[in-house]
Amino acid sequence: DQKRLTAPDITARKGGDPIVALTSYHAHTAAIADKYVDFLLVGDTLGMVMHGFESTLPVPLELMIIHGRAVMRGTKRALVVVDMPFGTYEESPAQAFRNAAKIVKETQCGAIKLEGGRRMGETIRFLVERGIPVVAHIGLTPQSINVLGGFKTQGRKRDQWAEIEEDARIVTEAGAFCVVLEAVVEPLAARITKAIPIPTIGIGASAECDGQILVMEDMLGLSPRVPKFVREFGEVGKAIDRAISSYATEVRTRSFPGKANIYESKD
Ligand code: KIV
Ligand code: NA
Repeated sequence: DQKRLTAPDITARKGGDPIVALTSYHAHTAAIADKYVDFLLVGDTLGMVMHGFESTLPVPLELMIIHGRAVMRGTKRALVVVDMPFGTYEESPAQAFRNAAKIVKETQCGAIKLEGGRRMGETIRFLVERGIPVVAHIGLTPQSINVLGGFKTQGRKRDQWAEIEEDARIVTEAGAFCVVLEAVVEPLAARITKAIPIPTIGIGASAECDGQILVMEDMLGLSPRVPKFVREFGEVGKAIDRAISSYATEVRTRSFPGKANIYESKD
């Protein structure tokens, strides 16, 4: 039986073979991904993907825990990271620790992720010093969508670079074991990757990042709309459409259930 990857295992991959990560909210698809990926993120995008919310903002802590437990049950090898949802960590390091500890105790995940650079430095340090590994998330931080004014690429203008680089340095110094760079212009993501000693995990960032992450449903071809940075590696949405359409036809024509799908009586 293989041992689960740990936060230090991920950090040790800096500059080596790319780290492969995906989001996961669901036990059976997590089990498939577990064969191929290094870490699975139970992202708060589950609010949009699984539950139809317009943004990640309404996601409650309890929902993260429910899906975190499902992904833990479905996997045995990948490191499982659970996102802290909006409103559960920003107030203070103590609030963050209380809620992160609840996630860790109830899911037994190996790490948490939170959004924010400099503004989260003190909180990241507080959690790590108390035993909770942290993935930082900078660049486009979707929980701040109402302040940013939309899902906008970060660092388009060079005079915005210094601030994002400073965020990367601060989360590194605070003890984050890796950092997600989301929707950051390519040369800046490459530059940050060279500048900091922890792995960068890109999403809409750069092939030079130390790893990549995508939302699983997006890369499977299951999401109705995807951003430019997604490559659809499958056509799962089309496969589901075909399957459900065939099922409906076969029920209506009474060709399902067939002989193989029914129970005979014994006498
Ligand atoms: O919630 C999420 O899915 C994420 C990733 C896209 C990085 O935070
Ligand atoms: Na997220």
